Amino acid sequence: MRRAALPVAALAAATALAGCGSSGSPGSTDSADASKAELSVSASYMPQPVSADMAAGFLTIANKSGAKDELTSVTSDIAGQVTMHSTVGGAMEEKTSFAIPAHGRLVFKSGGNHLMFEKLRRKPEQGQKVTLKLTFAKSGPLTVEMPVRSATYNPSTGH
Ligand code: CU
Repeated sequence: MRRAALPVAALAAATALAGCGSSGSPGSTDSADASKAELSVSASYMPQPVSADMAAGFLTIANKSGAKDELTSVTSDIAGQVTMHSTVGGAMEEKTSFAIPAHGRLVFKSGGNHLMFEKLRRKPEQGQKVTLKLTFAKSGPLTVEMPVRSATYNPSTGH
């Protein structure tokens, strides 16, 4: 018996409400469009985790504008904590922010920068979606529906 529809609908409603309440956010300024980053998220996925307490996630944030920004935090309904890591010389390092260059991209991918979902509240299963909230230094927050793929998913082959 599957009951996926109910929690998803409830979550969508909660997200819509949170969006309505965000009007006095410190991120909103009266600056001109040219000075604001234009961010969009693509290629997001989470390989189905092997363990029940930790999962990795990957995505690309593109910036169409001439203003740079910074990813400052990531949160998710399924994790008590989401940390951001870079991989330097094969060793991973936790970071508190990642730069998003003007007219550039910030890429999280297998073997490189990655998100780590810790203190999982439930184990993500292939076919499900995980909701993330990305917070930036200047731009307003973005909500991402990240699909859970197979444990061995490879974005370049699509399976
Ligand atoms: Cu890591």
